[in-house]
Parts: sequence; C-alpha cells; structure tokens
Amino acid sequence: MSRQAYRAALLHMLDDPSRGGADAHAYHPDGLLVVEDGHVAAFGAYADLAPGLAGTEVTELPGRLITPGFVDAHVHYPQVDVIAAWGTQLLDWLNTHTFPAEQAFADRSHADAVAQVFLDQLLANGTTSALAFCTVHKTSAEALFDAALGRNMRLIAGKVLMDREAPFGLTDTVETGRQDTELLIRAYRGRGRLGYAVTPRFAVTSTDAQLAMAGEVLAAHPDVLLQTHMSENVAEIARAGELFPWARDYLDVYDRFGLVGPRTVLAHCVHCDDGVMGRMAKAGASAAFCPSSNLLLGSGLFSLKRACACGMSTALGTDVGGGGSFSLLQMMGEAYKVGQLQGDNLDPLHAFYLGTLAGAKALHIDSRVGNLAPGKEADFVVLDLAATPLLARRTARTRTLAETLFVLAVLADDRVVERTYLMGKLAHQRGLAVAADA
Ligand code: GUN
Ligand code: ZN
Repeated sequence: MSRQAYRAALLHMLDDPSRGGADAHAYHPDGLLVVEDGHVAAFGAYADLAPGLAGTEVTELPGRLITPGFVDAHVHYPQVDVIAAWGTQLLDWLNTHTFPAEQAFADRSHADAVAQVFLDQLLANGTTSALAFCTVHKTSAEALFDAALGRNMRLIAGKVLMDREAPFGLTDTVETGRQDTELLIRAYRGRGRLGYAVTPRFAVTSTDAQLAMAGEVLAAHPDVLLQTHMSENVAEIARAGELFPWARDYLDVYDRFGLVGPRTVLAHCVHCDDGVMGRMAKAGASAAFCPSSNLLLGSGLFSLKRACACGMSTALGTDVGGGGSFSLLQMMGEAYKVGQLQGDNLDPLHAFYLGTLAGAKALHIDSRVGNLAPGKEADFVVLDLAATPLLARRTARTRTLAETLFVLAVLADDRVVERTYLMGKLAHQRGLAVAADA
C-alpha cells in the first residue's frame, strides 16, 4: 500500500454554494490531504489528522493551496492550433480557421502529436478531467483516447458526427457515423478512466437522420454522454431554424431525436429564454458556459443568474480553440466579467464550484472526482499563491478565502499551477517535463 500526505491550505466544494451556503465548501488554512493507493484517504485540518500519521512522509507545501483538479466541460482537442484566431464570428470562424485545421486529423500521426500537446496543456493548467470533441475522423478519437489512457486521465470524448454543411473530407454519413461511434464505444468506454460521448457537432451539420441515429446510439448505451452545441450565435440559430422548420426552437431539434436528458451537455446556451432553460432543467441536461469563447467569437452574454433561477445545471468550459485559454481559473474570471456586463457579481466560490464539482456532476463523474472527499480519486492541483511578484503581493493582502479566489481568477495563468496529480501520481510539475506512461 502506498500512502502520501500533503500539508497546505485545502479547499474543495461539497455542494452548489448558491444552494448550500457556507456548508457548500470545506476550507482548511493549515490542512492535510492523505492519499492512499491513488485515492483520498483523508482531507482535513493538519492538527486533527497529524496524530494518525505515524510513518507517513509529509510533503510540506507552505504558501500553497491544494484544490481538486479542474473539470473542463467543453473543449475541442483538434483546435489547439486555431486558438487566438482574429476577426471572425462562429460560422466564418468554422470555415476559415477550424475546418481546415480539423482536416489534418485524418492523419493518425498528426492526431497523436496534437493529442499529447492538448493533454500537456490541460495538466499544465490544472485540468484533470474534460469532456472533449475530436474531429469527424475515427482515428482522431483513437489518438486522444490512447494518449489519455497513457496518462491515466479521466477523460470523456467523442468522434464528431457531421453529414452536411461541412467541407469534403470532414463529413461522415448516418451509417459510417453509427459504425465508427459504436466501434469507439466498444473499444474505449470504461477502459482506464475513459468515457464516451456521442458528439453531433451541432444541428446545422447533421441531417434529421443522423440526429435520429445519435439518439438511438445514446439510448442503447446508458453510460454514454451526449455533447453538442446549442444557441451560441445569432446567425447559427437562424440557419438551424431554416434547416429544421418544424422545430419550435433549437432545443426542440435535439429533443425530438431523444438527445436531451440527464446525460446531455449543451455547450453555450447563450441565447436561451427562460422557457428553454426550464425545459433543460426538467430534463436534467447541463449547459457548458464558455465565457472566453463567447467573448472572443462575439457570441453573446450567457446569463448564469437566469440559468440558476431556472434550475438549469451549469458547468464551465474553455471551448478551446474558440476560447482563448486552457485555464479554468481564467474561465472563472471571464465568467465574472460576463456577469458584470449584466449587473451580476458572480461569487468566487460559486465560480470555483462551476470549475470543479459542477463540471464533474455534468459529466456524471462526481462519484469519482470533482472534490477531495475520502474515497475519491486523488486528482488534485497544488496552486502557488506567489507564482508571480504581482500575485505574491496581492494574495498577501487578501483577508478572506473568497478574495484570494477572486485574485486567482483575475490574475492567474498556468504559472500558478505548480503541480498536477492524477490518482496521487505527479502528472505535471511547473517548468519540468513529466513523462507519460507508455
Ligand atoms: N459550433 C459548431 N462547431 C463549433 C466549434 O467547433 N466551436 C464552437 N465554439 N462552436 C461550434
Ligand atoms: Zn465548442
């Protein structure tokens, strides 16, 4: 049996703080995290736990904050190389930047190389779990799953389904889409810590028949998720309306094909009225709020306040490459700014919940990760509150946990993430290469 202990400030969420109040989080300024065989054995105050530690080596981490690894509820691994593309909104951006980049993933060696860069970026930013899009190519998903298996990451992904309104080389058909999806589910779902998500790109690029097929595959596999995009951009919504004239709104398109349920994660939901949010809440579906992408692509302002009022579960996504960073800490800051533009001041602990436990809940992996409760998989990060001279100065002057979290959300980048652990094993150390298991 292997046992390690880490002494630092500790923080994790137990519930949504907008519902659970002060009991929704646990914070120990001088805490101890004990890890046994890759799982959390104890999380608490150092003074309480130290007496039971005989023989266990304690790693002392003064000035550090340990939190659960972050969960990215919406990200595209093939878009690493289109991050920070200037001057376009969604439909133009797809045609000008994204589709050309995705064509290259027909080549397995390119997909393998980008998958490693992508996982390096997740870990360097403290992200230990993600729900990711691949490209239409089956091999793109194989590359990502194999890379994640090599690092023992808890990752959920899917091959994109697109049978129209996309360039040559980036489309499948109803039948090849079904076949490749079924083969990937059989090959990877449940292996290591992997999961599968059926992944129609969005309503615009799938025919009625392909969405119906996606619904059939989803129904046949109760442990598989469904990820897609919805109501992100005004021109996209108009095109979806033209292609599905029978639908009462965008959600109705997905609903009609059995795609809206508790295992569904819909990215963006920027232009949804309360009725749509209420229907999503009733169905148990989650939204992935992607503030950086929504600002960069000029998509609009997601209303977290309305989402909460309607009872719609919401998690946080980077949406790289639409989004401009892999950092969930930065997404918390961007989410705050989006709130500010709507007269809403997002509470820092609520933002922290969105980037950790809420993401794990949306991805149905919260029995395993999302916080550091005993028994959970020990996916955690060590944050350096003095990573830069400005951070050191500013965090030294904060008086509350919420203030410190807010400073991180506004000033942090990957320099703050000193170490990232997967199941108790060091997977990233700032400034050093940590080898992935072959
Ligand atoms: N809608 C359809 N495809 C995409 C994509 O790749 N990125 C974003 N942000 N929105 C989409
Ligand atoms: Zn996206």
